[in-house]
Amino acid sequence: MTASVLIELKNITKRFSSGSATTTVLDDVTLTIRHGEFVALVGPSGSGKTTLTHIIGGLLQPTSGKVLIDGIGLNQKSDKQLSYYRNKQVGFVFQNFSLLPDYTALENVSVPLLLAGMDQQGREQKAKYYLTTMGLEQKLHHFPAQLSGGQRQRVSIARALAVQPNILIADEPTGSLDTQRGEEIITILEQLNRQKGVTLLLVTHNAELAERADRIIHIQDGKTREVLS
Ligand SMILES: Nc1ncnc2c1ncn2[C@@H]1O[C@H](COP(=O)(O)OP(=O)(O)OP(=O)(O)O)[C@@H](O)[C@H]1O
Ligand SMILES: [Mg+2]
Repeated sequence: MTASVLIELKNITKRFSSGSATTTVLDDVTLTIRHGEFVALVGPSGSGKTTLTHIIGGLLQPTSGKVLIDGIGLNQKSDKQLSYYRNKQVGFVFQNFSLLPDYTALENVSVPLLLAGMDQQGREQKAKYYLTTMGLEQKLHHFPAQLSGGQRQRVSIARALAVQPNILIADEPTGSLDTQRGEEIITILEQLNRQKGVTLLLVTHNAELAERADRIIHIQDGKTREVLS
């Protein structure tokens, strides 16, 4: 049986303007992702991968077109429903990590749990658990500036996983990691997908990683095309 559609993009266009110049980054993109799928998103630098993920995650508005989640338009959601979607349904591993510089690793992972309404003890327990999973048990009280790039990346992964999202969007989650650490992280993401049914959208430049997905979406010149892996 084929799983039902979870994410549907309908005729999404995204333009950025600066001064008199306008760039069309996404040009009438239509695609669907089903519940529990593992989809890789690949394409050259600047092709719009991050832009597309931010639109799916409700962090960026398209210029035109619709994003439907379980058949409901993000633009139809109330502010409350939209924050629920952003904070609890979607976990984001950002390309630039987006850690709060004045917060420790433990606090960074705890913030979304606070937004999700968890009490302090629960937050701390969960944040420690996920940081430990990422091999960072010695770094709980370090600030981002005191961590290496790879360690920061792992904090951002722990932060995304801790909310136990049902959609995980990971933008080059292994970009700053060595091969072995990268392999460990991808295995964790794959397990979440296969065992817990988390829908996984993985942005990667790594062709071997992309091959592990159920489906590969290529993006170039504002258009997407799909290839079965
Ligand atoms: N806020 C913005 N204002 C203006 N242009 C933007 C903005 N955000 C992105 N762009 C432009 O949109 C295009 C796509 O950017 P995006 O970050 O989505 O690319 P990408 O595929 O993720 O690239 P990379 O592989 O390098 O991360 C780029 O040309 C970029 O300069
Ligand atoms: Mg990007």
